[in-house]
Amino acid sequence: MKSSRWLRLMALSTMSMLLIGAVTVSAAVGGRLEIFSWWAGDEGPALEALIKLYEKSNTGTKVVNSTVTGGSGVNAKAVLKTRMLGGDPPDTFQVHAGQELIGTWVVAERMEDLTSLYEKEGWRRVFPEGLLKLLSTDRGIWSVPVNIHRSNVMWYVPGNLAKWGVKAPTTWAEFLAIAPALSAKGIVPLSLGENWTANHLWESVAVAVLGPEKWDALWNGKLSFKSPEAVEVWKAFGEILKYTNTDAPSLSWQQATDMVVRGQAAFNIMGDWAAGYMATTLKLKPGIDFGWTASPGTGGMFMMLSDSFGLPVGCAARENALAWLKMLGSKEGQDTFNPLKGSISARTDSDMGKYNTYLQSAARDWKSNVIAGSLAHGVVANERFMNDFATVMEIFLQSCNAQAAANAAQAVAIQSGIASR
Ligand code: GAL
Repeated sequence: MKSSRWLRLMALSTMSMLLIGAVTVSAAVGGRLEIFSWWAGDEGPALEALIKLYEKSNTGTKVVNSTVTGGSGVNAKAVLKTRMLGGDPPDTFQVHAGQELIGTWVVAERMEDLTSLYEKEGWRRVFPEGLLKLLSTDRGIWSVPVNIHRSNVMWYVPGNLAKWGVKAPTTWAEFLAIAPALSAKGIVPLSLGENWTANHLWESVAVAVLGPEKWDALWNGKLSFKSPEAVEVWKAFGEILKYTNTDAPSLSWQQATDMVVRGQAAFNIMGDWAAGYMATTLKLKPGIDFGWTASPGTGGMFMMLSDSFGLPVGCAARENALAWLKMLGSKEGQDTFNPLKGSISARTDSDMGKYNTYLQSAARDWKSNVIAGSLAHGVVANERFMNDFATVMEIFLQSCNAQAAANAAQAVAIQSGIASR
């Protein structure tokens, strides 16, 4: 009795492994395809271009574009969690390469292995090895990257800096030296938005204070969040926050960017989706209407993240989703999406003639800089850490107590399996 039940279970699991392992890609089969992301409103144009491309080559299939507004997916990820746990996954969804994918959905066995799709499309040869590592475990490759974004960018308007007699700072010490004079003129030195944008600023400060090796050491548990260096990050962050706008919690990232564009603020640190927003939505010219540099203290470093889409186990329109993934990974898909999005292609063979001057400079840095992984956008830590870190950030924003924040961050790192006791 015992052994026949065991055999049945073995047969079932072999069958499901065969089903999952053999990803065959055909064209979409009609009906609908639900894609889920946070690319709504101002963030929408690049995704809409992809949807058009998909519907053109998969006639008869209607894309249902489910979006939940909110930068960096703060709201979308909560909705996704409810749907995934409730057995109602979208056909495919946006997820960051790295721990947001692997340490959240792959460990929970909610994703299908896409290795055979990669083999069929020859993608192992066109995506960089470091990126493939972020998408893989020893059991498979779990999503298809659509881009590479850069997190550590400082944005400004060149004409305004000239008018105010300042240059873009290359270190935080330089920033702190010019900030008081800007404040005295009624200009906000550094615009900031809601909670997650504070996390975003924090990671740029952290990699500047720690350097890329110690930054990595935080995430593989070799450097404690309570170490003097890590406490230093919070102290530096606290000094910088003194020169940000007081209404930050009520602003979206776009509104914080708008403060720079309108001359109310001198600088903003945001990922290069801000370049997409300024160039595609606001129709500003890169290099003329807006300028950029690596965030202070991070010259020569590229803090990366990658948006990807995966195939959830049990989705309703699996074939249609596979056709979507195939298009996402293609050269045409990437070169349609990225010039509008403000990101560069994840592929090594993109047509750079389609990209503006900002994106061409990002592509050069991507090839030559030291690469670090973003925290705020899912590369280095899983969702458990990220949710609790948002609370740590909130406590710091209220109290400005560096040691307390460092202690709390270490506790969160232990709970989420990053650090040991
Ligand atoms: C990031 C995402 C970007 C952009 C940004 C702002 O997490 O990777 O593509 O959408 O959030 O919402």
